[in-house]
Amino acid sequence: MPGTFSFEKGASRFQMIEAQAARQGVIKRYRERLPEIPEAAIVSIGEGGTPLIEAPRISERAGASVYLKFEGLNPTASFKDRGMTVAMSRAVADGNLACICASTGNTAASAAAYAARAGIECFVIVPAGKIASGKSVQILAHGAKIVQIEGNFDAALKLCRRIAEERDDVALVNSVNPDRIEGQKTAAFEVCEAMDQPPDVLALPVGNAGNITAYWKGFKEWRKSGLADRAPRMFGFQAEGASPLVAGHDFDNPETVASAIRIGSPASKEDALTAVRESGGLIESVTDEEILDAQALLAREEGVFCEPASAAGVAGLLKLAREGHGQEGIAVCVLTGHGLKDPQAVVERSHLPEPVPATFEAVGRYIERVLS
Ligand code: F0G
Repeated sequence: MPGTFSFEKGASRFQMIEAQAARQGVIKRYRERLPEIPEAAIVSIGEGGTPLIEAPRISERAGASVYLKFEGLNPTASFKDRGMTVAMSRAVADGNLACICASTGNTAASAAAYAARAGIECFVIVPAGKIASGKSVQILAHGAKIVQIEGNFDAALKLCRRIAEERDDVALVNSVNPDRIEGQKTAAFEVCEAMDQPPDVLALPVGNAGNITAYWKGFKEWRKSGLADRAPRMFGFQAEGASPLVAGHDFDNPETVASAIRIGSPASKEDALTAVRESGGLIESVTDEEILDAQALLAREEGVFCEPASAAGVAGLLKLAREGHGQEGIAVCVLTGHGLKDPQAVVERSHLPEPVPATFEAVGRYIERVLS
């Protein structure tokens, strides 16, 4: 009722406005640090403003103070939304009828949502039968047109590049589009703002290598604008069965449980290697088992549920610590996508117990057994 608000209530309302401002979308929030987009063309669903979560249990094991940048809390539950808002806004500003992308799932889910909001057609080209169920459901829900090819991500990206080249009414929204990198670099700004300084290490999964490129661009720009006098070391981790940057050659048949990063020929490989070299970082591989163990650890001991690929950064830090290369200082691990994207990855490693009678005794016995 008007006039009955206490001061405290007014204060919490103010906090709500602050929270809303953090999720106004990355174009509005970082307008002066991004390419110019006409106001009327902006397509946003409130991406960005994701939390940086302290991870005490992981920190103990990694020998560093580990924080999790939980990108699974973006509108379509992955970091892709940061770049998609810029790429889709540009597609609208340029009068495109449609957009197209190749994807292991998350780019497609994000493109589908932003295209729906923009009111343009969306084509996604994906490896048949290789997309995690949560992502397929998102693509279908948003009404994108799925083309399943009998080939992998790398083949899909080649096709998309050619189609976008030959049709000037179709915008390519993969991370080879520089607008995607521009939008994604805002995550580096948020990390610096949240900590008041850049971390010592930024660890993240590497697939097509756009994200590591974007973070490095963001950290360098932050430093250049005088807000920090240093930048973090970039630690990229690939799944062993899909680790072309570690091996130094492309993989024809990349294989890993982390379907999001099942990529044999990363489009931004040169930029990724530059980021690692310039920052004094590293590119390493982790096994599927290490990835799934890290995913489980995050879920069971930190309460943070990410998809398998997203756990590669944590898996990598833990592996380094086990090998005697624990990191000093502050490490931020980017959890790139939400765990609900890929329910099967968990279901296959767990089992639902048999039903018990609906009695106090039966349920009580079970609880007694677990707690004793
Ligand atoms: N983590 C997740 C959850 C991803 O979906 C991806 C990439 C990455 C990490 C790697 O990022 O490619 O910039 O090095 N997914 C793309 C897709 C390939 O189609 O959704 P990257």
